[in-house]
This record gives sequence, C-alpha cells and structure tokens, in this order.
Amino acid sequence: MCGIIGYTGKSNNAKEIVLTGLKNLEYRGYDSAGIALTLNNKITLFKSKGKIVNLEEKLMDDSINSSTAIAHTRWATHGEPNEINAHPHQSGKITLVHNGIIENYLDLKTYLIKQGVTFQSETDTEVACAYLNFIYQTQKDKLKCIHEACQAFRGSYAFAILFEDEPEVIYATRKDSPLIIGIGSEGNFAGSDISAILDYTSQYMLLEKGEIARLTKDQVEIFDENNAPIQKEIKQATWSATEYKKNGFEHFMLKEIHEEPSVIEQIFHSHLADETLQKIDFSKFQEIHIVACGSAMHAGMVGKYLFQNYTKIPVTVDIASEYRYNTQLINEKTLVIIISQSGETADTLAALRLAKQEKATTLAIVNVVGSTIAREASLCIYTNAGPEIAVATTKGYTSQVAILSLLVLNAMKQKGLLSKELEQNVLKDFENIHSILNQVIKNDTIYKAIAKRLYQQNDIFFIGRGIDYALCMEGSLKLKEISYIHSEAYAAGELKHGTISLIENGTPVIAIATNDKLFEKTVSNIEETKARGAYTIFITTDNLNADSFESFSDITVSLPKTTDFVQPIVVVTILQLIAYEVAKLRGCDIDKPKNLAKSVTVE
Ligand code: F6R
Repeated sequence: MCGIIGYTGKSNNAKEIVLTGLKNLEYRGYDSAGIALTLNNKITLFKSKGKIVNLEEKLMDDSINSSTAIAHTRWATHGEPNEINAHPHQSGKITLVHNGIIENYLDLKTYLIKQGVTFQSETDTEVACAYLNFIYQTQKDKLKCIHEACQAFRGSYAFAILFEDEPEVIYATRKDSPLIIGIGSEGNFAGSDISAILDYTSQYMLLEKGEIARLTKDQVEIFDENNAPIQKEIKQATWSATEYKKNGFEHFMLKEIHEEPSVIEQIFHSHLADETLQKIDFSKFQEIHIVACGSAMHAGMVGKYLFQNYTKIPVTVDIASEYRYNTQLINEKTLVIIISQSGETADTLAALRLAKQEKATTLAIVNVVGSTIAREASLCIYTNAGPEIAVATTKGYTSQVAILSLLVLNAMKQKGLLSKELEQNVLKDFENIHSILNQVIKNDTIYKAIAKRLYQQNDIFFIGRGIDYALCMEGSLKLKEISYIHSEAYAAGELKHGTISLIENGTPVIAIATNDKLFEKTVSNIEETKARGAYTIFITTDNLNADSFESFSDITVSLPKTTDFVQPIVVVTILQLIAYEVAKLRGCDIDKPKNLAKSVTVE
C-alpha cells in the first residue's frame, strides 16, 4: 500500500534510480506517482496521475540530473487520485513522501489552519508535512523536530523527508508501516521494501518503530527515540533482482502460477525437516485460532477443515479486521496462527499483537523474510515462495496451504493419528506434486475453453462443500478481483436458502466436488441449479467416471486425485488459471487490478 523510495549518492542519476525503484514498488499502489529531486540545491516536484510511465514521460528531459531524490507511488486513502493529492507533499521547508494513514489528521489540520497554515490537497500526508514544518519553525534540531512531530501523529507512517536547508540529506522514520534502509557503494537508500533497492544493492537495515535514519551520500546514521546514535545489523537480501522480473511471461500472475510446481515441491521436501514446524507441541493447545485477510484467510479455511477433520483440535478462522475488534477468548492454551504473504498487513499485524498480549502462542506463516509479522510472532515458518509481484496472490496462497498441510500432518503424528497407509500416500503425493501441477498448468485447452464461456458473463457462482467450499471462496475472489465479474462462493447446501433465486437460464455455476464422502450431496446441489437453467462447470477428480456426469455437467474438469493434504493446491491452480484467462479475454490489467494494491498496510 503506497511505495516509497529515497536515494542520495555519488551518482547524478537519482532520477533513474528512484524510477527503477518505483517501478518495482508499483504493485503497492498505482493511481498516481511523484518525485522530488534536488536540482541546483532546490527541491523540485514532478507529479502525475496514473501509473509510473506517466511520471517517467514528464522526466524525459536529460537535463534533469540530480544526486538526491525521494519518490512515491500511491494507493489513495484520503482524496481522489490526482496530481494535487499525489506525493511528495511540500509545506514550507519540508518535502516528504508517506506510506500509512495519519488518523488524527483532521484535528491537526484544524489546529494548523488556526495558526494560519493553508492546504492544497485533501490528504492526511500534507497535514503531516505541514505539522513537521510548523514544529521546525521553533525546533531547529531536525531529529528532535521529527520526533516531536511524530509524537503528535496517531496511525501508521513511513516517511522519507527532505529539509530545504539540507537538500541532499534524506531523513526517514516509521511506525507500523514498513521501511528499510539500503546501503550501496555509490549511495544510500530508503525504501518500502527490498524490491525498491535490489537493482542497486542487496545490503539493507531494518528500521524499527521510532528510529530515524539520516542518509547522506556516503553515510547512514541511525538514531533511537532519544536521538542517540545506534548500530544496526546489516542484512543481506535473499531474493535477487531477476526474481522481480517477468522473465518472458506476459504477466507476473502467469509467471507466479508457473512457479507453483517448484515452490510447492520445495516446501514439501524441505519443510518436512523444518525445525520450527517440528518444535510445535500440539498437546499444549486446546484450540487453534487462524487469523488472516483475503486469500490468506481462505488458506486458513482449508487449514481449519484439515485440522478439525484429521486432528480433532477445535479451530476457528477469523478475518483479522473482525478478530481485532471483537471479544476473543484467547489464553495460554490457544495457538494463534497468523497467515500473511507480505507479513505487513495492518489488520493481521494488529491481531497478532492482540494474541500476544493475551499470552497465546503465536505462529506466523509468512513469505517476506524479516517482515514485521515474521519478526513479532513467537514462532515463524517462512513459505519461501520468492517475491510475489502480481497483486492477486497465487503461489503465496498455495504455499500457505502447503505449510498448513504440513502442520496438520505433524499434529497427527504427535497424536498418533497418522496411519502408515495415509503417510505413504501423502509422501507419494509430495513426490509427484511437481508433475501433477505441471500437468494441470499445461492442459490449457480446458481452462481456456472455460474462460471463453465465462468472460462475457455478469454473475458467476461457485459451489462446494467442506474444503471444496473453501476453494470456491478463493476461486471466486481471484475471478472478481482481476476480471471484475461479480461472483459469489456458496456452501453448496446453502444455496437453496435464498441465493438460488439468482440462478437463471445460462447462469454459470462452477461446482467443485473432490471429496468422495460429500460427492453425492454436492451433485444433488448441482442438479438443483441445472434444473433452474444453470450452465454448469464441474471440477472433480479422475478417480471417478466422468461419462456419468453428462446429465448435470456442461463442462467437466477431471483433476488428478490426491490426498486431502495436496488436493486443495491442485484444484486452486486451475481456478487461478481460469480467472487469469477470463481477465485476459476481458482485456483487464491483470497484475494491477483497479482499486487494489498489494501489502495492505492500512486498516
Ligand atoms: C487476493 C490477495 C489478498 C491478500 C490479502 C492478505 O488475491 O492477494 O486478498 O491475500 O490482502 O495479504 P497478506 O497475505 O499479505 O497478509
């Protein structure tokens, strides 16, 4: 959610450096962008509405050379996306870019207006900028000024700040929004995440809440909340710049789907011996709470069914934004599993903090190494899926499901519930997962044909029972977020309690039935929609005779049959591909769907 980058260094190329960083950060927000460059000791702003290419066009002039710049790509919170509301904002002697929300900005704005300050934009960020400038009029020590201003801000922020009287020095600070400091041989960086700087350096430091970084061309100094200089560990990025490129694929989403066979194979092979995973003693817990947002929550739903069906441990799954504001019965015997690809989602992070406060054991399943959730949870298992750039998660989701499967298998082992036969079947699935997923991905005639049937529809329904219902939720979300077709996921048995009234002649219903025990029940529900004119797409497994489905299924997809610990991953891959192909036929901007952004750092 909003990407920020700052560079100051020996190179006169700050403009290109921050534009490259911004492009890598564009998945965080892309409704407007802006840059502040120090030109002949004067800070000059360039802004544009829309994607970063528009900003780039404004900066074509080769004479625009600078060795210091801060820049921003925006996901609007306060005020529509336009040039006035775009960052950087400038007030008096201060220019800054911001990621986060200043919740008390209206109070501060009223106060500043009374002091004679005027505003151009509708943003909370301009208020923060003006407030800093206001403090700077009396507090000339820049570190003290930043501390004092930040104390008045409620909410979340990561700032990169330029002072007019020191225009080649970048100050950066954060609270509840991510910010890293990069150290390069030719200069220094501040960035929302590692992707911002990887083209130039792989060395970075994590900035903690309240710390301030002061970046000059050849030095990085970090100060604590008392303005005392501190030493920070220099870390080495584990992901490389090439992992952030499309590498020949038309879209990041397609590339990331194609990475799933290797990512999942790697998880199943390496995590069997994962120390954290082995360390979790399930006998200590009376219940499990799974908390996450969006697709990560859907992965949690799969986890719930697996845990309850196979270990009998009671599990609840909550949307983090609900969990954090409602009474939760948490104690030392609760295991709270927090799932987040980015490790920065604001609501998920708040839920984690709540669980810790209530003395629960917290286990995070996270992809981004060193992210806030990964650092704050008592235990963390990394999915190691590599960077995920497409806004719609694919390998992020399947890797979360894979880790949950391993956790359930581990709990079963500990409780003596894993039979030899099941274990052998699961291990066989783990051995074959790469080729199974490849087979699904390569069989493009089927999902392209389905996409052709769906792409001009207005409403699409997904139905299933048990784990298949959880998969319907993910399939439906994927479809609507990237193709903008309205879609709903329903527990197959629930449809007749109201929603079936929406089924008309030709309404597409995608039904998933992979569970042998629930198969006939789901088929009855498909028949009910068929009787009302639905066009049915039936997703099932190849152990069943597809010929017998003709009476109720217009298109049948028979996927390789596996154990429940792997089946959800196989099924969801085809749902991701259907969503992708539908969005492509509709000419949508697949990697950057409208109104969305990755890494939701505001609540
Ligand atoms: C949907 C999607 C989102 C995320 C959600 C949580 O494709 O990507 O629903 O799953 O915003 O994000 P993380 O996992 O980063 O906490």
